Parts: sequence; structure tokens; C-alpha cells
Amino acid sequence: MTSQSELPLTILASTRFIPLITIERVEDAVPLAQALVDGGLPVIEVALRTPAAPQAIREILKAVPDAVPGAGNVLTPHDLALAAHAGARFAISPAATPALLEAASRASIPFIPGIATPTELMAVLSRGFHVVKFFPAMAFGGPEAVRALHAPFPHVRFLPTGGTGEAELDEWLSLPNVAAVGGSWLAPLEEVRAGNWDSIRARASKVSQRG
Ligand code: 3PG
Repeated sequence: MTSQSELPLTILASTRFIPLITIERVEDAVPLAQALVDGGLPVIEVALRTPAAPQAIREILKAVPDAVPGAGNVLTPHDLALAAHAGARFAISPAATPALLEAASRASIPFIPGIATPTELMAVLSRGFHVVKFFPAMAFGGPEAVRALHAPFPHVRFLPTGGTGEAELDEWLSLPNVAAVGGSWLAPLEEVRAGNWDSIRARASKVSQRG
């Protein structure tokens, strides 16, 4: 096994849920991360979809020592470098390209590529990535698809994300090849905009107890 196949599992071992957060205002990053940590969800995927994202990762690292912030929506080698430079503890992509996989195999941080089909899975496996994001999970078959992938790929661990919600959590968690479930619903953007940290903390707490 390469280090890229082991490192993501070390991170994922501490959680079964990864909130994907979008930070529009840097000042939201710390209270949001604190609410998630207090609710029992320390591993946080900060989507590189806003200019504030890299600074948000830095602020979380400084002010919320129990948080494990990573970068999400990593699409290019440049994004990966940006994530590593900000101190992200891991990086996740909704997909994979040869250039991104090449950069990730040399990166200083663990990388989780995204796949949606068995053929895409084979491509990342051939580069040594055994922990993958399954995206968009619900549109591409939901828990049934991940269950079916277990027989041909028993050593692969999945992070289903995209359309996931509370309804099918038990089903995901019962699958032996699901490492953790990701999603933006754990910290909805409207609640972040409103600074509704209590609501986010309460949801995190309720969900984390299910894992
Ligand atoms: C992602 O990039 O992982 C998705 O945008 C998250 O999907 P969700 O918003 O449906 O949870």
C-alpha cells in the first residue's frame, strides 16, 4: 500500500461524517468549525469554492485545535497546492484527472479523488488511491451502488457525497466499504449566513451520535 492509500484512512478513522462547508465570510469559519467540533464532527471539508476558503482553513487551524480541516472541491494541481499551502490536513476532489492524480501522488497531504463509475475507480486504483469520494452519490445509485462495488473492489473505502441526507444514513453506515458520509446538509449555507451556530451544533450532535 502506498502512503496515499493509508493516510486518508487515518483521518477518516476519527469520524463517520464529513460536513462540506462553504465559507463566504472568513469570520464565519471559526464559529462554524467550533459548532461542528462541539457537536462531535471534527473533520471538516472546506470547499474551495469561495475566495475566503484558504484563509478559512488557516483560521480554523489557529483557533479550533480539535478541528481537522481539509480542502474540498480540489479540481486542479493548483487547487491542491493552494490547499497544502493553507495547511489543509487533507484534500478531496469530486472527480480526478491524470494531472491531479500525478500532483496528489507527490503531495504532502492525503488526497481523496472522486469517482462515479467502476471504470473511473479503476483509474484511481491504478495510481494507488484506495479511499475515494463517491460523487454524486445519490444520482449514481446511492447505497445500492456502493454495496455492489464491494465484491469486485473489497479493499476500496468510499466517502459517499452528493445528495446524501439524514434519511439514508443508517443504510450507508451499515455498508462495510463506507468509511464516512459527506454532505453540505450538515452545515447548510443559509444557517451559516444567518450565524445559526446553535442549530448547526445541535444537528451535528444528533448525527454524530448515530455513527
Ligand atoms: C460536494 O462537492 O461534495 C457536494 O457539493 C456536496 O454535495 P451536497 O451539497 O449534495 O451534500
